[in-house]
Amino acid sequence: MQAPSTSPPARPNLQLLQPPEQPIAAAGPAVAERPASTPLHVAIIMDGNGRWAQQRGLGRQAGHRAGTENIRRVLERLGEHRIPYITLFAFSTENWGRPRHEVRGLMRLPGFFLKREIKRLHANGVRLRHLGHLDALEPELQRQVREAIELTRNNTTMTLSVAFNYGGRRELVDAVRRITAAGIPSDQIDEETIGAHLDTADLPDPDLIIRTGGEMRLSNFLLWQAAYAEYYSTAAYWPDFGPTEVDAALAAYAARRRRFGVLPPGEDEPG
Ligand code: FPP
Repeated sequence: MQAPSTSPPARPNLQLLQPPEQPIAAAGPAVAERPASTPLHVAIIMDGNGRWAQQRGLGRQAGHRAGTENIRRVLERLGEHRIPYITLFAFSTENWGRPRHEVRGLMRLPGFFLKREIKRLHANGVRLRHLGHLDALEPELQRQVREAIELTRNNTTMTLSVAFNYGGRRELVDAVRRITAAGIPSDQIDEETIGAHLDTADLPDPDLIIRTGGEMRLSNFLLWQAAYAEYYSTAAYWPDFGPTEVDAALAAYAARRRRFGVLPPGEDEPG
């Protein structure tokens, strides 16, 4: 098995990363000692809740709830692997087009998740972040999310970003608007400027994007940030995606050879 190469051309400021004071799980090396074959940032498209429920003769909302409950065991496993950045795609800007009753059900999930998990996340040093437009959501939901973000803002073991009412294209439009509003002249706009005006400005780009449910598409998720991510798709439905599947995804990542568009040293032809 070959470890992916390190040091892509434009990596984030790794000084943002602090060694964990209160590790989320007991096993595994601390951040500073992480092997290069372990991704720094894992992003997940949690798909297949509906099919999972259908398989069991249940309604779609039962699948979404089971999917929400599943987050804990996946985070725990990723924590054991010492992954410091995790991003979950929970509700896309396109999901508003689903039937009204399903959208209503999906809107209940963040509250359900926070009620169930926030104490535990905080106790484990998890910093919660939100990606997307919060202000379009119900005021009570906005309040709950803001409160959770505020509570966990100084935690350093893991950063959990939840993309809820998020779309990659809209994020790019927002970034352009912010850049324009800041009066930055066009000849001073480069890739770094755009990255710094995205919702993910303080996050490293994802190294690994996992999609459950068997589809092989990005669905408007982290379009800019995914430029050099490794992609992993599994047929497992999200509620069935457990520790064994996490391990399989990380093993597949470890076997990839990341080149970031260049040839590794020693592989260029002799001139
Ligand atoms: C796609 O499956 C999944 C969603 C639209 C919702 C995913 C959200 C969660 C699992 C939890 C949300 C958690 C938080 C913290 C807000 P699908 O319904 O499209 O599945 P299908 O393709 O089988 O129909």
